[in-house]
Amino acid sequence: MAKLIIDANAVIGTINRNIYGHFSEHLGRCIYGGLFVGKNSAIPNTNGIRNDVAAALRSIKIPVLRWPGGCFADEYHWKDGIGKNRKKMVNTHWGGVVEDNSFGTHEFLELCEQLGCEPYIAGNLGSGTVQEMSEWIEYITFGGLSPMAELRKENGREEPWRLKYFGVGNENWGCGGNMRAEYYVDEYRRYQTYCHNYGDNRLYKIACGSGTEDYSWTETLMKYCAPYMNALSIHYYTVPGEWDKKGSATVFDSDKYYMTIEKARRIADIIDAHLAVMDRYDHSHTVDLVVDEWGTWFDVEEGTNPGFLYQQNTMRDALVAAVSLDIFNARCTRVSMANIAQAVNVLQSVILTEGERMTLTPTYHVYDLYKRHQDAQCVGHYIENRLTAGVPQLSASASRKGGEMALTISNASLTEVVDVGATILGASVGSASGRVLTNKAHAHNTFDAPNTVAIMMLPVQIESGDVKFTLPPCSVAEIVMK
Ligand code: AHR
Repeated sequence: MAKLIIDANAVIGTINRNIYGHFSEHLGRCIYGGLFVGKNSAIPNTNGIRNDVAAALRSIKIPVLRWPGGCFADEYHWKDGIGKNRKKMVNTHWGGVVEDNSFGTHEFLELCEQLGCEPYIAGNLGSGTVQEMSEWIEYITFGGLSPMAELRKENGREEPWRLKYFGVGNENWGCGGNMRAEYYVDEYRRYQTYCHNYGDNRLYKIACGSGTEDYSWTETLMKYCAPYMNALSIHYYTVPGEWDKKGSATVFDSDKYYMTIEKARRIADIIDAHLAVMDRYDHSHTVDLVVDEWGTWFDVEEGTNPGFLYQQNTMRDALVAAVSLDIFNARCTRVSMANIAQAVNVLQSVILTEGERMTLTPTYHVYDLYKRHQDAQCVGHYIENRLTAGVPQLSASASRKGGEMALTISNASLTEVVDVGATILGASVGSASGRVLTNKAHAHNTFDAPNTVAIMMLPVQIESGDVKFTLPPCSVAEIVMK
């Protein structure tokens, strides 16, 4: 029996709902075909936005959606994507396909309205001008009389939108301009100067952070830009191999499986190391950390466009999602947002589509199991854990909200069943219910078999005040206690 102790009074902080955010780029079939099919499509839609996909994302309470990239963001010129005559361009980063700009600012902000989520826009610092970035914010948020507000009205939107989250560039050390940190900091300071707060709209400015372990980038950013930003981002992808040989999304042995979980867990140390650098320049923690891209990155599915980054999603991805979300929850006092890459049809998606068909991935179901943590108080816990193939077997998050305690817990072992006995300090449990996602590590959902991996009820007993349940191998569970 693995002992778990949850201390209801050991409040760590509030779990920002944006930790459950998503990322959508003009990449492959994420936007076109995935989220957006156009008004004239035979696929049921509302103003071009797929009804099935929108409903599924609403159901997991998507809190924030990042757009239009990624690398695409620093080649995106927003004026090409408004009005009646839209310019066509080549999507140089992703497959060299024609981008017809039929999904632009109005469509993205309508998508967010339909989803009931906050928009997070990544501005173009790499190849765009200061004026262009400044005018985009004016176009979206200015309610008075101005050239951009008039243009917006001509395009059918009278009232400004609200926009909080704004990224000043993306991966500017790489696809966003190959800049040195010393150069980016000056560019950041200049561009953000003209990102104005109009009326009562308040921007939350996110500076481009490091690619994984470049701590000197973080150091330079904090040294020169901390007073000008609300958050610094990092990107981290779980790649179980080398970039040119990442491995299959569905065919892997147990060594590769455990290596994937171990690599996913590394994000904890990476976040902590960035936070330690940030702390040296920001003692009062005014700058948050945003993990604005994370997830698994495998070889593309055979027969698909290599530039489209389409991959299947198995129980292995579900375990990666669970351990990653636990890591973000535990750091909720500093991590204000985390966006999984990417929402639909790209990398570690929660949804896959093919024509009119849609399937929910194992990762989607983890977001369903974890959604109670949004805006809840994260509380401390201790698990009697052991290592399986060098990886901690169990991982968990506990939170409380409105008289309920939610525990999410995963068992990464491929072979061992684990009986868990949970003692809750500081609260008594009158009732408890459980749900679980479990299957073989390779198991995944297809369009023909969409329920191969699905949430089931998990029996939970209360014995002498303790909560007892059994976790199957390779499983993620949610226990709700009242
Ligand atoms: O998510 C795919 C790509 O990964 C993004 O465009 C880029 O920001 C990152 O390198």
